This record gives sequence, C-alpha cells and structure tokens, in this order.
Amino acid sequence: MSGMTPHMPPAAPNMPRVGDKQDKAGDVQRMFADIAPRYDLLNRLLSLGVDKSWRRAAAAEALLLHPKRLLDVATGTGDFAIELKTRSPQTEVVASDFVPQMLEIGERKAAARHLDIRFEEGDALKLPYPDASFQSLTCAFGFRNFADYERGLSEFWRVLTPGGRLVILEFPPPAPGLLGSLFQFYFRQILPRIGALVSGNAGAYTYLPESVLAFPDPARLARLMHATGFQVRYRLLSFGIAAIHVGSKL
Ligand SMILES: C[S@@+](CC[C@H](N)C(=O)[O-])C[C@H]1O[C@@H](n2cnc3c(N)ncnc32)[C@H](O)[C@@H]1O
Repeated sequence: MSGMTPHMPPAAPNMPRVGDKQDKAGDVQRMFADIAPRYDLLNRLLSLGVDKSWRRAAAAEALLLHPKRLLDVATGTGDFAIELKTRSPQTEVVASDFVPQMLEIGERKAAARHLDIRFEEGDALKLPYPDASFQSLTCAFGFRNFADYERGLSEFWRVLTPGGRLVILEFPPPAPGLLGSLFQFYFRQILPRIGALVSGNAGAYTYLPESVLAFPDPARLARLMHATGFQVRYRLLSFGIAAIHVGSKL
C-alpha cells in the first residue's frame, strides 16, 4: 500500500476496452467470472435497490404480447429472467450468458424459487438457436458489453419470430445538465470506490462508468436498432439513469 493515496481506488489494469467494435469479449468474460459472487450484492448497493423497479418496467414491456418462448440474453445471475418467469409462468424462459460462473448463481436462485428457467451458455454475438425461435428477447445491462453492437442486434433479429419483440434495458450516458453532472460524479468518483472495496476488483467498477460514458445515447441506439430493421420506441427511467428500448420485428 505504500505510496498509494488512501482514498483512491486501486489501479485497474484488467479493465476491458469500452465501446463498439472492440476486441473485449475475453476480458469481459474474465471480469464477470471474477465478480460473480458479489454481483447481486453490488447491484443492490450501487443502485440503492432501484434496479429492481427498472427490471419490472422492462419485464412488463417484454411480456406485453404474451410470448410463448422468451430468451433473456446476457442474463448474468438471472435476476431479469426470474422477474420474467415469476410474472409469466406460462412463458418458456431461456436464460443465456457466456460466463458459466454467473449462470450457476442464476440457476441456484431460480431453483430456490421453484422456477423452471433453462440456463444455457451462449455468446450473444453467435446465439446457439435457430432463426425465429423466440417471440420475445430481452437484454438487461448486457448490450453495452458486446464487442459489436450491430452484430448483437442482427443476432437478436435473427432468433426473433416475425412480430417478435426486443427489449433492451441499459444505462445511457448521462445527459448534460445538473442531474447528469451529479450522476456522473457518483458514477466516476463514488461507485468505483464502493465497487472496488466490496468486489475486490477495481477494474470492473471502473469499467462500468467508462462503458456507460462510451455507450450510444438513447436516440443513437434507437437508430442502430432501426437500421437492423426494428420499429423502435424508447423511454427513460429515473431521470434518464436507465432507458428501455423496445424493438418490434414487423
Ligand atoms: C452487467 S451483467 C447483467 C446481468 C443481468 N442481465 C442483470 O440484469 O443483472 C452483464 C452480463 O452480460 C454478459 N455478457 C456480456 N457480453 C456477452 C456476450 N457477448 N454474450 C453473452 N453474454 C454476455 C456478461 O457475462 C454478464 O453476465
């Protein structure tokens, strides 16, 4: 510890690259494998529990057309898949991620709640499902981590049935203004310190704000979705801290 300013988070040497078209998949996998045991705790702590209400709002959108089969991509420890299955027990929910350590936690949580969710390993950029397999596809706080956004969207399009619905829940970059500046201060100065302290992984919680700042703003994400073929609408939650994008494959 000698030479290190006590209030600074430790250096973050293994932080994945941020943004689109980046060679980051391996680093993202290693990072989530490392923080998996503390991921849920930190989610609750860092969002003060508000993340639950964001998932509830996104789940309502994803279930609006009563899908028979739904794929939750980048499911992580399965909180969103669990929310979806709890609300719609008749929907077959498949929960996919490319980090087995995250999936194992999700599997245990679903089993403890007696929820029949299929947890499966898979890369979002190369989904192991045939075309037109799902009526609904969800992705909560995962899309930002993809190495190629267009490729992710075209995979989402491919596995959705015609008439199917895509719901992306993400953190847009903070908008200009007082609230955005306050949020940016929390995100860049406070969150990485708490994250580093609780998870023991400084890189992961430095990566989180940096990846949000590098993410397309809501209008640009809507344009990317539109360019893939989706009819798109979006809305902001909690003064723009989170955003739900809904895409219809018409
Ligand atoms: C921030 S977590 C979100 C987990 C969960 N959806 C939630 O709402 O808490 C992001 C997840 O995306 C997964 N992920 C990132 N890139 C992926 C990819 N290309 N394929 C599959 N999973 C990916 C990570 O492994 C991680 O579990």
